[in-house]
Amino acid sequence: MNIKKICCIGAGYVGGPTMAVIAQKCPHITVTVVDINESRIDAWNSQNLADLPVFEPGLDDIVKEARGRNLFFSIDVDKAIAEADMIFISVNTPTKTYGKGKGMAADLKYIELCARQIAKVSQSDKIVVEKSTLPVRTASAIRSILDNTGNGVHYQILSNPEFLAEGTAVQDLLFPDRVLIGGDNATDEGKKAISDLVDIYANWVPRDKILTTNVWSSELSKLTANAFLAQRVSSINAMSEICENTGADINEVAKAIGMDSRIGPKFLKASVGFGGSCFQKDILNLVYIAKSYGLNQVADYWEQVILMNNHQKQRFSDNIVSTLYNTVSGKKITFLGWAFKKDTNDTRESAAIMVADNLLNEQAEISVYDPKVNAEKIYADMDYLNTRSSDENRRLITVHDNPSQACEDSHGIAILTEWDEFIDYDWGNIYESMNKPAFVFDGRGILNKKTLEDIGFVYYKIGSGE
Ligand code: UDX
Ligand code: ADP
Repeated sequence: MNIKKICCIGAGYVGGPTMAVIAQKCPHITVTVVDINESRIDAWNSQNLADLPVFEPGLDDIVKEARGRNLFFSIDVDKAIAEADMIFISVNTPTKTYGKGKGMAADLKYIELCARQIAKVSQSDKIVVEKSTLPVRTASAIRSILDNTGNGVHYQILSNPEFLAEGTAVQDLLFPDRVLIGGDNATDEGKKAISDLVDIYANWVPRDKILTTNVWSSELSKLTANAFLAQRVSSINAMSEICENTGADINEVAKAIGMDSRIGPKFLKASVGFGGSCFQKDILNLVYIAKSYGLNQVADYWEQVILMNNHQKQRFSDNIVSTLYNTVSGKKITFLGWAFKKDTNDTRESAAIMVADNLLNEQAEISVYDPKVNAEKIYADMDYLNTRSSDENRRLITVHDNPSQACEDSHGIAILTEWDEFIDYDWGNIYESMNKPAFVFDGRGILNKKTLEDIGFVYYKIGSGE
């Protein structure tokens, strides 16, 4: 099969940018991204590129180049499936909130719905590519649905996990460390499907960076990569607490260990805790898989990465309370940043959410400024916790689109996201507008201690014991 038409089901943080780059690099292939969420599709089709539903540096230019040429966004899911030679599944796989595996296993209902839809609509042979992060052996579930409810159509299932990180998605897609493609390499049809997908990536990725494996290795590699990355963050965060108690500095420790070529310098930035849609979900998934095979020590080992992350968020808010004379009741605390990292408007699992929840439990009033996150999303994140009523969240949290206002009359500023613009603020002016003593709790370690202390702030930096 020569791939001429691609359909991608799911126009989210993964599907949107990935398909935009495929379309840009493969002008000979028509790429249609479909979603059941009409307003999301409308936003992808928006003439004003600032309104795209996903904020990623560089994405607007790529969409501008390819959209309407060979990149299309549509809600006509059936049509796009029927016409496609290759179908990517990029729907969400959140952690289950009900039943067996609640709070741990990935909820595959969206994946299953996609598989059933493909089976119902397809009249010609298809290659189905799993792009969503999935528990190992999901491909066999998809195969079983396609083979048993289909109409004589032949399917090949490939696993092609996404390693892009938000905020750098476009660069990660254009210059990936590697592309991983898992498939049925024991049959000729399977090998052919693998090579069809390899050929697509080979339009811009050097062939020696395109790895092919069996399906299970590919699926497990995604979980493993995220577990290892998250583990590095929890490891450095564990050391940050030791630093604060011993007078060491976590940045100096990170630099010293990162120069060991066996360890390397990346993912050693101490923080208020990792967030994002993948790390926690994938580790919980791994823990669930380990437990389901009776591998309890393996499960406990990985679970500790999550427990450490929860502890880091908790101790950050505890420190704010104890520093502000053991009470934040009625005090205004300003959050600079709400996104789970800089350069994204995504807030899924952001550390800010738990820190805010803890402080609201202590009766604080919170004001928030984030350059890319709007009030609606912040309230939705808090409402989702169900800790208090939606009215109460709106009463206790004020969202500003101006950082100076957010900091006015504040007792303490907490930095939750490492947005570059925070570094260059006029901290002298901010100090003047605050209650004294004025505190800064730098959960990302981005500000200069001496500068802030010279202005008059009481400055706490994560991982600094000086
Ligand atoms: C991650 C993986 O990196 C990516 O390969 C996968 O496809 C999806 O999950 P993402 O969640 O977008 O990507 O962001 P990432 O850059 O990995 O950061 C995750 C979290 O860890 C963020 O909250 C970030 O602030 C935090 N982090 C990261 C640290 O606290 N310290 C670090 O040194 C690195
Ligand atoms: P990710 O970060 O994995 O891309 P998102 O939640 O951003 O996750 O995107 C997943 C998208 O998949 C959502 O926009 C959702 O509406 C869409 N989706 C889920 N199920 C289906 C389905 N059966 N058909 C079409 N789109 C779907």
